[in-house]
Amino acid sequence: MTERPDLTAGPGAKMHFWDAYWDLRTGECPCDVHFVAWLKDRGIRDASIFHFGTGGHHHVGIETARDGSNNAVLGITAAPQEYDSYVKLAIETPEVARTYKVFFGDIYQLDPRLLPSFDIATLFHLGEFRTEKNDAYGGLTDLEVATIMFDQLKPGGRILTYTGSYAFDVAERDMAALQKIRPIALEESYEKLLVFRRTD
Ligand SMILES: C[S@@+](CC[C@H](N)C(=O)[O-])C[C@H]1O[C@@H](n2cnc3c(N)ncnc32)[C@H](O)[C@@H]1O
Repeated sequence: MTERPDLTAGPGAKMHFWDAYWDLRTGECPCDVHFVAWLKDRGIRDASIFHFGTGGHHHVGIETARDGSNNAVLGITAAPQEYDSYVKLAIETPEVARTYKVFFGDIYQLDPRLLPSFDIATLFHLGEFRTEKNDAYGGLTDLEVATIMFDQLKPGGRILTYTGSYAFDVAERDMAALQKIRPIALEESYEKLLVFRRTD
């Protein structure tokens, strides 16, 4: 007889997960729509993309899978409900799942040993969800997350931030700090996005 471990009784702090489900609300938060438009406008193809905060709508993964660009997206969500919606999406539409993968986790626990290299990383929600609950289990800081993402970038790779974020002050501060410790510079602004490019 096989026994399942009791997964409900951890001894320490619980993961700071996001107990919510975000549908596409372009009035409130157009970053994913702007990002897909930017990819199309710039003719970006065959790129590997890290996407922080998939939403339950999975707009970035679905659009890139269906627009013929052959861009591949690795998304992270901290919402069990959104992860469930990805599982359903992957089962129902394997043609989308071919280029779109999602993992459940806290971005403040990113481990670079487990990440491939990327052409593009979206950090639209930098600073939005980092609290003392992440400290309780030794979570990374926002600047550490941005630094890890930079270090995963291929030469010429890009990090995008979102000026409409309610924590944009954090993203702005940390991207300025990142520019002091890594070779990266603002390349352009596009709709409500800022595009930073690796310069070495
Ligand atoms: C407000 S929703 C925005 C989703 C999508 N980018 C959009 O603009 O429509 C925030 C997203 O960040 C994710 N998120 C929140 N905290 C996170 C964390 N600690 N690590 C990874 N993702 C997180 C949520 O799961 C959710 O997908």
